[in-house]
Formats: sequence, C-alpha cells, structure tokens
Amino acid sequence: MLLEIDDIHVHYGKIAALKGISVQVDRGEIVTLIGANGAGKTTTLKTVSGLRDLSAGAVRFDGADISKMPGHKRVLAGIGQAPEGRGIFPGMTVEENLLMGAYARRDDSSKELAEAYELFPRLAERRTQAGGTMSGGEQQMLAIGRALMAKPKVLLLDEPSMGLAPMLVQQIFSIIEEINRRGTTVLLVEQNAQQALQIAHRAYVLETGRVVKSAAASELLDDPQVRAAYLGGDIGDAVEAEEPEPGEAGKPGGEAGEPDGGDDAGGAAKD
Ligand SMILES: Nc1ncnc2c1ncn2[C@@H]1O[C@H](COP(=O)(O)OP(=O)(O)OP(=O)(O)O)[C@@H](O)[C@H]1O
Ligand SMILES: [Mg+2]
Repeated sequence: MLLEIDDIHVHYGKIAALKGISVQVDRGEIVTLIGANGAGKTTTLKTVSGLRDLSAGAVRFDGADISKMPGHKRVLAGIGQAPEGRGIFPGMTVEENLLMGAYARRDDSSKELAEAYELFPRLAERRTQAGGTMSGGEQQMLAIGRALMAKPKVLLLDEPSMGLAPMLVQQIFSIIEEINRRGTTVLLVEQNAQQALQIAHRAYVLETGRVVKSAAASELLDDPQVRAAYLGGDIGDAVEAEEPEPGEAGKPGGEAGEPDGGDDAGGAAKD
C-alpha cells in the first residue's frame, strides 16, 4: 500500500471536521473521495499533504509514518499536490512556474518539463506568458503540471474540474487518466462525482467527517443511493432500481417529490 490514512481525526478549533477517516490507496490506483460540501474531503487531502495537523490517527506513506512530517518534506517524499486556489505565481512565466515545481529536486528536470508540455499542449504554446494572465482553466492545468514536475509518487487533486467549461472538464479527466497510466497514483477529490467514478478504480463516500461507504468505483456508479445523492440526484434511476410492479410501467409517477438539493450548508468554508 502506498498511502494509508488510518482513522484520522482533525479539528478546526473545537469543531471536529474529520471524525475517524480511513482511506487506503494502493500503488497505481486512482482513488476518489466524493461527498457533499463540508464532508471533509479537502481537509483529508490537507492532512495528507501536511497543511493540517491531526489530533488522532496516523498517515502512512510508502511504509513510513508521516503524521508529524512537515509539508515540504512530504513533497520530497513523493506527495504532490495541485492546491485549491491553484497557487500560481502570477508574475512568473508559465515555464518558470513549472520549473518551480521541480525546485526541490537537484537533478535535471528537462524530461519532466517536456512531459508536462506533452500532457498540456496549451502550456507549451504559452510558455512565456505570465502565469497570472492565464485563464482559470489554464491555471488549473499549470498547477497540475507544476505538481508533476516534482515526480510525485502520489498526486493529490482537489476539484481539478472546478470552474472549467464542459469541454475542458472532459479533457482534464482524460489527462488525469493519462497521468495515472504513466505511473502516478492519484487521490482525487471531486464534486463531479459521475466523471470521477468513471476514471477511478475505487471510491470512498464521505459524510460529515466520516466514511459512509467504500467500494469499487464501478459499483458506486450503479449504487441507487449514491446515484440519488451524488450523481445529479437522478431520482428516475433510483426509482427504477426499486423494480416497479409489473403492469405499472408507463404510468406517470407523481412520487418524485421535492428534489433534495438545497442542503449545502458549510460549503463556503474554504481558506
Ligand atoms: N479553516 C477552517 N476553519 C474552520 N472550519 C473549517 C475550516 N476549513 C474547513 N472547515 C470545516 O470543516 C468541515 C470540512 O470542510 P472541508 O473543506 O474539508 O469540506 P469539503 O468536503 O472539502 O467541502 P467542499 O465540497 O465544499 O469543498 C466543514 O464543516 C468546514 O466548515
Ligand atoms: Mg473541498
């Protein structure tokens, strides 16, 4: 196992954001965390990358307990991340931003640079443009490209599709698949659960700081409860899965009721 998040508890002041989350990521996998706003997905990633301390539990990586390791050492150990809000250096060119990703490595990074440009041709076209003038989607690509420059063993991605146009969303998911095919393990957080489950091997469903379900991604795609709650509230599918009485078909059902969608409290808390 490459990454093991073992029963971690994380607090913001007195508020318990994570109440015992356990997640395992094997070498070569794409694992995705899905769940409503405020469920604890970002906090989980931040605890792995060392941006949040845990109050109980452990994070193990590549055989070592890294629970107390400072964040910059985790990067060197092989934990890469494209941070939420992207963290691009606005005054530096695209290429300088990419090279910053390899800053901690002593060896030549021209191979990784070429690979980043191959994955993201847009970055190659814009290599001399200031990072801060790239569009939101382009900055997202730049952030991922920069994380890859450090040759991470695992790449942590927090909502890489956020704010992207539908065409770019498709593109970013295929790039993540390609990154994984080339050998990088991926831990992916996504609101876009449908697409995340389509590229992931396994998935965990988080609810208010706990894991409530974990399974093969393909299994969760077919899970009526997961479909209803996280995959666009597709009530039709959930009802269908309950095997309607024979002979009832074709009757327009009035039982769909209120879509349960407005309960997104806590979603505004980003830092
Ligand atoms: N800096 C903070 N200070 C106080 N509480 C916080 C802070 N960051 C997060 N929280 C709280 O911790 C809980 C988990 O938040 P987290 O950001 O991990 O959720 P999330 O699953 O990533 O949600 P989203 O889908 O909205 O990004 C939420 O209740 C949130 O309000
Ligand atoms: Mg989040």
